[in-house]
Amino acid sequence: MKIAIYPGSFDPITKGHLDILKNASEIFDKVIIAVARNGEKKCFLTVEERVKLIKESVTDFDNVEVDSFEGLTIEYAKKQGAEVLIRGLRAVSDFEYEMQLSQTNSALCSDIKTVFLTTKPKYNFISSSTIKEILNNGGDISKFVPDCVHEYLVKNR
Ligand code: COA
Repeated sequence: MKIAIYPGSFDPITKGHLDILKNASEIFDKVIIAVARNGEKKCFLTVEERVKLIKESVTDFDNVEVDSFEGLTIEYAKKQGAEVLIRGLRAVSDFEYEMQLSQTNSALCSDIKTVFLTTKPKYNFISSSTIKEILNNGGDISKFVPDCVHEYLVKNR
């Protein structure tokens, strides 16, 4: 069974992330989308809120699980018996950071490979920060996030 981990901060999950997840779920037997608890970023939503919103967004996928983790992604992946880390690439600007992250992870554990997937072009420009900026300025985020995320953010933020 090929297990892949899709790690990230998902603050919040977007339609771009879901597109990556859909592709990953078609390639691997099981995909665990995992929210990093101790990322460097100052997050807008709590880990529990992010996990809840991801769970509500992935009900159509029967081989996707949702979790959170602390510490190194690679250690979490080993514990889950995963062989692959999934990362999304949107534009050249993502490349340098993703290359460094994948090479660091590979240096820590060469058995776990990083697979890069791309989104549909219509999602290429979306990022969680731009969604938060639109929301904070009263704009409409419904095109960029799953319906449940839109509803939750409009009600609670
Ligand atoms: N659709 C929409 N947005 C996307 C996207 C897509 N398909 N792909 C990437 N992004 C955006 C995210 O929205 C996010 O935007 P933001 O910066 O505006 O918030 C940005 O790209 C990157 O976010 P994400 O993919 O969640 O990565 P991250 O940099 O927040 O998290 C971890 C990276 C958590 C995987 C990494 O820090 C990690 O592994 N941490 C654990 C410790 C560790 O093992 N470190 C590595 C060894 S030192």
